[in-house]
Amino acid sequence: MKILVTGATGYIGSHTVVELLNNNYDVVGIDDFSNSKKEVVDKIKEITKKDFKFYEGNVCCKQTLNKIFDENKIDAVIHFAGYKAVGESVSKPLMYYRNNIDSTLTLLETMNEHNVKKIAFSSSATVYGKPEKLPIKEDFPLSTTNPYGTTKLVIEGILRDLYKSDNSWSIAILRYFNPIGAHESGLIGENPNDIPNNLMPYIVKVANKELDCLNVFGNDYDTIDGTGVRDYIHVVDLANGHVKALEKILKETGCDAYNLGTGRGYSVLELVNTFSKVNNVDVNYKIVGRRPGDIGACFADTSYALDKLGFKTTKGIEEMCRDSYNFVKKSK
Ligand SMILES: NC(=O)c1ccc[n+]([C@@H]2O[C@H](COP(=O)([O-])OP(=O)(O)OC[C@H]3O[C@@H](n4cnc5c(N)ncnc54)[C@H](O)[C@@H]3O)[C@@H](O)[C@H]2O)c1
Repeated sequence: MKILVTGATGYIGSHTVVELLNNNYDVVGIDDFSNSKKEVVDKIKEITKKDFKFYEGNVCCKQTLNKIFDENKIDAVIHFAGYKAVGESVSKPLMYYRNNIDSTLTLLETMNEHNVKKIAFSSSATVYGKPEKLPIKEDFPLSTTNPYGTTKLVIEGILRDLYKSDNSWSIAILRYFNPIGAHESGLIGENPNDIPNNLMPYIVKVANKELDCLNVFGNDYDTIDGTGVRDYIHVVDLANGHVKALEKILKETGCDAYNLGTGRGYSVLELVNTFSKVNNVDVNYKIVGRRPGDIGACFADTSYALDKLGFKTTKGIEEMCRDSYNFVKKSK
């Protein structure tokens, strides 16, 4: 089976390509390197000792996609390509709507024209907005608080409409919780060049003395220690979730959404303290006020993904903390 992976050199894409190759899928990758590096292609080959075809290009470009589908007999697509920084999406909404929605429409049109109708799409727990109850189930009401989240919600709607119009599509909407960690080899992972948007890359930079201090936004939430609670999932577990979703869409038609998380929440301070302990390093932090729009706690009900995809996670918070730091130390 030949799988096209868009955003193949990105954080989650690269780990997924590794797991696909490990599971003997043929992979064709595309990325424009807007948020990743060329060297990741070789790192993936080094980890897996396997080759795969890679195209440098933009998923919004119809010509590029036509070339890929003409040159390769693609069976299914995993669509990661997109911009993902919530804050940036607030200041540059048009850039986010253009890239995330245009790339998806161009991809779906090209797939349709080439009669490839199986896709797994990277959505996000952000589509649950401010959930009224926990843990979060797939059938909870959907809403968003920022343009990034809205692009995910709009795309989910496009995918559902597409399926309604043509029941021969197989669509898996994957709602990720909070991926952290890195491949155990330390060869691929996440290490943004600028100020990180997410907690783990920020913790890593403070531990590495690249940033002075971690701001912890609020310690008066109704949680174990007052700090925000999130469902962190090891990126290799998440990558394997895509292998499970792929098995499903290769087998059956349909359009369904699945939570990919662990079902267990950890607070900011639990994460910071675990990181310090397993890596034997100090993480300087200070408590500051709540950040507007943040919610106190967010974690998944994972029973649907277990039932329908047979997906369960295997890696705990200590492994996530160790692997995140290992990658950054190795890439110094
Ligand atoms: N990391 C998270 O916390 C998280 C959580 C929920 C959902 N997601 C979604 O998962 C997907 C992958 O996330 P990630 O963390 O790996 O992000 P990432 O930025 O590391 O990877 C995305 C990749 O897509 C590429 N890209 C972007 N636009 C492109 C385009 N038009 N054409 C070709 N390549 C393009 C980037 O260069 C990058 O390599 C994204 O859609 C993101 O919104 C991520």
